[in-house]
Amino acid sequence: MRVLPAEVVAIVGPSGSGKTSLLMLLAGLERPTSGRIEIAGHDLGKLTEDGLALFRRNNLGIVFQSFHLIPSLTALDNVSLALGIASPELSLKQAREAAEAALTSVGLGNRVHHRPSALSGGEQQRVGLARAMIANPRLLLADEPTGNLDQKTGSLVIDVMFDIARKKHTAVVLITHDPSLAARADRVFTMTQGELVETTASKEA
Ligand SMILES: Nc1ncnc2c1ncn2[C@@H]1O[C@H](COP(=O)(O)OP(=O)(O)OP(=O)(O)O)[C@@H](O)[C@H]1O
Ligand SMILES: [Mg+2]
Repeated sequence: MRVLPAEVVAIVGPSGSGKTSLLMLLAGLERPTSGRIEIAGHDLGKLTEDGLALFRRNNLGIVFQSFHLIPSLTALDNVSLALGIASPELSLKQAREAAEAALTSVGLGNRVHHRPSALSGGEQQRVGLARAMIANPRLLLADEPTGNLDQKTGSLVIDVMFDIARKKHTAVVLITHDPSLAARADRVFTMTQGELVETTASKEA
C-alpha cells in the first residue's frame, strides 16, 4: 500500500481482521515481524524507540479507537498540550488559541473547558481528532473516527479531515465500518484476516 500526500485512503474490513494492528504498525507503536514501512522518508524498522517517538512527534497525528485523552485535563488542555510538545517555540497563549480553533472546527467550541469524563463518547472522539491534527502532521492515522458519531456530526468530522488533507497536503489513512465514509475516500483497501487488498470502486466522472 502506498499513500500520497493529500490523499485520503480508507481501510475497511470485519472486526478482528487486523485493521487496528496495521494502524499500530504504521504509527511505529508496534514493530512488524516482516515487511517494511516507510513514512516521509523514514524506514520505521531502522529507528530506535527514541527515534520512533521523535518520528511520531514530527510526522504523525493519531486518532485512537479508544481516544486516549488525558483524564485530568480539559479538552482545550489536551489539545494545546499536544501542540506545545510538537511546537515548543509557541507561547502558551498561541497554543491555546490554536487549540480552541481546532476544537471549534470539529464542533466543540462550547466544550473546550470540559474534562473527558464530562464529554460524550463522540465529543471525546472529536477532541482526539483536534489533538491529532493540531500540529499539521504529514500523515494522519484515524481508527474509526466517526464510530461514535451521529450521521451529521460524522459528516462534519469527515469534512474536516478532507479539508486537512487537501489544504495541508496531509496523507490520511482512516479505518472505518461506515460504507458511505469509505465511498468518499480517494482509495479503499479491504482487510480480510490480515490481508490487505485494494477495492476502490470506480467513480463516475
Ligand atoms: N496485542 C495483541 N496481542 C495478540 N493478539 C492481538 C493483540 N491485539 C489484537 N489482537 C488480535 O489480532 C486480531 C486483529 O485485531 P485488530 O484490533 O487489529 O482488529 P480490527 O480489525 O481493528 O477489529 P475492530 O474492527 O473490531 O476494531 C484480533 O483477532 C485480535 O484479537
Ligand atoms: Mg480496531
